[in-house]
Amino acid sequence: MPCVLLLEAAGPESGALVATAVASGYEVHAVTQSETHAAYRADLRNLLTGCLLTDFACPAQALHDVVTYAHRIGADAVLTTNEYLTPLLAKVCASLGLPGNDPAHADAARNKAAMHEAFARHGVTAPRTFVVDDKNQLRRLHTTERIIFPYVIKPAEGAGSAGVTVVHDPAGVAAAWQAARTPRGMYGMPLDPCVIVQDYVEGTEYSVESLTQNGSTTHLCATRKAVTAGNHRVEVGHSLPAVLPPYVERAIHQEVERAIAAVGIHNGASHTEVMLTPDSGCVVIEIGARLGAGQIGFLIQHALGIDPWKALLDTALGYPTDLTPTRDDYATVRFLTSPRTGRLASVAGLPTTGPGVPVVHLRTAIGDAVREAQANHGRLGHLVVTGPDADTVDRHAEFLLAQITIDVVPEPAAPNSLDRPKLRPSQAGAQESL
Ligand SMILES: Nc1ncnc2c1ncn2[C@@H]1O[C@H](COP(=O)(O)OP(=O)(O)O)[C@@H](O)[C@H]1O
Ligand SMILES: [Mg+2]
Repeated sequence: MPCVLLLEAAGPESGALVATAVASGYEVHAVTQSETHAAYRADLRNLLTGCLLTDFACPAQALHDVVTYAHRIGADAVLTTNEYLTPLLAKVCASLGLPGNDPAHADAARNKAAMHEAFARHGVTAPRTFVVDDKNQLRRLHTTERIIFPYVIKPAEGAGSAGVTVVHDPAGVAAAWQAARTPRGMYGMPLDPCVIVQDYVEGTEYSVESLTQNGSTTHLCATRKAVTAGNHRVEVGHSLPAVLPPYVERAIHQEVERAIAAVGIHNGASHTEVMLTPDSGCVVIEIGARLGAGQIGFLIQHALGIDPWKALLDTALGYPTDLTPTRDDYATVRFLTSPRTGRLASVAGLPTTGPGVPVVHLRTAIGDAVREAQANHGRLGHLVVTGPDADTVDRHAEFLLAQITIDVVPEPAAPNSLDRPKLRPSQAGAQESL
């Protein structure tokens, strides 16, 4: 019976991996940190044969702990869906001689300064990028006119759009700098304090989900993104498979394959975000050495009938993968966001699950403090809509969203909520792009 070691079992994608592995008769162990482990649900704990607690904030110690544990349980595969753990994963796989990515380049799929260098070396078309350490360097970029508005400021090691700002004018620079410098991340891991300054690329955003095995890459699909406008770019929808003219698709795949090679992905999934410019050019925004989050794996299952969890396990085990689509459908996820800052008073009109609506999930509790989303983690919940084609699915999703009313009361809670005007998602700031 194969034995699989998963770096972090929390989260929907990891949950699906664990369930798939156990259903295949595999033994599954997880590595995590004590605070995260405390939040594991009982059904997840029941599926795990064992769990190693380590400290991901100490990379050398974590590597030693994971490799020792993997030897002890006789791990046949080690994998993760957590982007923060992809550099550690590459090192673990290399020391165990298991299928994985090149540890010498794995940081480049996590750290945007290293990614910029790797992209430049491999001729990946990417935005003009400056890596700055302090405000004076940023000021010099302005005074020498090397950067002009609008441009993008982001942290070197962020994720989920956290701390990313599109700066439109001089008045927005200080807040954007501060946002990029505010440390975030997971597990208390040390983060590179560098700030990335990039030309703003105008266009339509897509991601490409790919699986690479022994250096050979299969692109599962392209995903069309709905992203908020304004200073902060929150992903409020993913729809797939995106159908693009063959010459555009070829150009995208070429850039994505360069990006995959640049960051040393040999065995595993990748999620590459690209901007398609008005002249059909393809600019790579970033790459992660993991499957797309935000329900993308589940959408692939619904729309294409490919089991991404089995494919990830097969790749990590060194088994042949089956990536042949068995369905020709379409799927979208739409995220709910708060129209303003306050407390979530109610969410009315949520659809029930049923045919064509496999998932409706509100992750924010009524009464919780909410604000206009500035990053993906500020989203309140989501619904997944499936159907035979893009038109049907998009129309159905828009119809369902129009029924939903998100009521947010100001802080402190007003005594009589009935007197307040209610905002529909379509009328409210961040919701407009749903
Ligand atoms: N250079 C850029 N030009 C235009 N939009 C950008 C650029 N960089 C980032 N964005 C927007 O900000 C979002 C988040 O930035 P990204 O680099 O993907 O950081 P993260 O790792 O936090 O996801 C992107 O999905 C995109 O919408
Ligand atoms: Mg991104």
